[in-house]
Amino acid sequence: MKGAKLIPLALALLLGLALAQDGKALYGQRCAACHGSEAQGVPGAIPPLAGNPRGQDEAHVLKVIKEGISGPLEVAGTTYNGVMPPMPQVTEAEARAIAAYLKGLSGGSQEAQAVPQVQGDPALGRALYLGQRPLQNGGAPCQACHTVAGVGFLGGGSMGKDLTDAAKRLGGEAGLAALLKNPAFPVMREAYRDKPLTDTEAAALAAFLAQVSQEAPRPPSLYLGRFLVAGLALFALLLLYQAALWQMRPKSLAERIRAQLRR
Ligand code: HEC
Ligand code: HEC
Repeated sequence: MKGAKLIPLALALLLGLALAQDGKALYGQRCAACHGSEAQGVPGAIPPLAGNPRGQDEAHVLKVIKEGISGPLEVAGTTYNGVMPPMPQVTEAEARAIAAYLKGLSGGSQEAQAVPQVQGDPALGRALYLGQRPLQNGGAPCQACHTVAGVGFLGGGSMGKDLTDAAKRLGGEAGLAALLKNPAFPVMREAYRDKPLTDTEAAALAAFLAQVSQEAPRPPSLYLGRFLVAGLALFALLLLYQAALWQMRPKSLAERIRAQLRR
């Protein structure tokens, strides 16, 4: 009779274990890109969930997954002021499994210091940004939608924000790299849904944007100058085209008769 009581207990234990493992895997898929593989966060950009009492608060975690969160919040003396989008793609059951996994994580504030620093190559980032080097998974070059002061001949697209000081606003190089791996902005998320940036690409782009944010602000007259140069070049081309057309114009009847008579 003792054994019969133990069976449900063992089952419950197994189920709990399975759920916890599920939670870890789900966390890896849904949250790790931003909050880090050990839920250590990105200092100054994305709050840690390990060692964060609110990360252990199941109701809070469920609410944040469902509704997103934005605005200033403080964890272990560091203020965060970012945006986490609502994640309707995470089901209620998955959210519970993730919350259970987070609850089991003990303090990680020491680990937060040991975040592996993304070391991106800014020159590669620049080429990727401009589309001089294609993105590995075929995503659109950033310049299609964004501008960075002084980079690219005529600036770039105007659909997205100017990124000149994005690194300053969005938690430096490490924060940006995490953001780019998992963009919170609907238009960009859509654009890169099936064509995600690789880790190397995200790090390189973040390094490039961190670099431009350090450079001295450029005068807007720079673009005016470039527009003038481009305008003049276009004008010269038009003149050449006209001249060529004139050379190749069909000869008149009189000219053709004169040419025949000369033979
Ligand atoms: C796109 C990046 C991103 C993803 C993906 C993401 N988060 Fe967040 N999360 C953030 C940011 C940024 C904040 C801080 C928002 C702020 O400053 O108000 C945050 C805040 C939180 C908070 C609040 C922390 C606190 O101290 O109150 C919780 C809880 C949380 N996230 C859990 C999750 C879970 C669980 C997942 C996966 C299901 C997840 N997040 C996925 C970026 C992300
Ligand atoms: C299809 C257009 C599109 C493409 C391509 C695109 N973005 Fe964006 N991006 C947006 C939009 C829209 C936003 C939302 C905020 C806004 O209005 O600028 C945004 C926001 C951002 C932000 C946050 C800006 C801020 O200060 O809040 C960063 C950083 C960023 N993009 C970087 C990039 C990088 C790097 C690439 C290239 C890998 C890229 N984007 C490609 C449209 C795009």
